[in-house]
Amino acid sequence: MANDILISGRNLRRHYRRGSETVKALDGVDVDVRAGESVCVLGPSGSGKTTLVNLLSALDAPTAGELTIGGRRVDGLSERELVGVRRGLLGYVFQQFHLIPTLTVAENVALPLLFLGRKAEPAEIARVLAAVGLADRAGHLPKELSGGQMQRVAIGRALAVRPRVLIADEPTGNLDSHTGEAIFDLFQKTVREDGVALVLTTHNLALAARCDRTLTLADGRIVA
Ligand SMILES: Nc1ncnc2c1ncn2[C@@H]1O[C@H](COP(=O)(O)OP(=O)(O)OP(=O)(O)O)[C@@H](O)[C@H]1O
Ligand SMILES: [Mg+2]
Repeated sequence: MANDILISGRNLRRHYRRGSETVKALDGVDVDVRAGESVCVLGPSGSGKTTLVNLLSALDAPTAGELTIGGRRVDGLSERELVGVRRGLLGYVFQQFHLIPTLTVAENVALPLLFLGRKAEPAEIARVLAAVGLADRAGHLPKELSGGQMQRVAIGRALAVRPRVLIADEPTGNLDSHTGEAIFDLFQKTVREDGVALVLTTHNLALAARCDRTLTLADGRIVA
């Protein structure tokens, strides 16, 4: 069903100027992301994975090509307009967690709701914390948590706005393999139960094999 498509990119290019040189970080990529599927982006270091997920999450704009996110054409939009595209539609999880150290777990999770001007209902925060397995950690500070728990908070924060797409750049890159597996299980549960689409990058082939689809990049192009 075409209306299942949440993100659609055609001939996406992202070129960076570095002095007199042009780096073709992405050089003509086609990609569709549908509701309820998990897509894994693989490829060697420097192949363009982060560049691609930054485009798909409207953190960055393509140099050329067509990009539609949530039914809206976003290529050519200004940075301010891109903020509006992201709001409430996309949740982003970083490799480095990026939690606010002075806020509790519950407050970190509530933060995006406050940014959206929505009320952070205690019952809603409790639902999110239960979903990520942190019901008993609501009042803790990030420094009191393990790496895996911190990443659970980051996922909870991304889920708090009930996004339709969850995007994660090497979300298990800072975790040991066992913890990384558990975080991946949590992502898959989210796809299954909430019907969100998941796009993640990884170097871990075992995790990639558990995604519905993989895209393999090399030198800014899809090779598999
Ligand atoms: N802001 C920038 N300015 C110039 N070149 C950049 C910039 N960001 C990325 N690049 C270049 O674009 C290419 C793709 O980078 P990208 O970060 O997307 O790779 P990656 O696949 O995510 O790599 P890694 O696995 O190491 O995270 C690289 O050659 C990189 O040096
Ligand atoms: Mg990267």
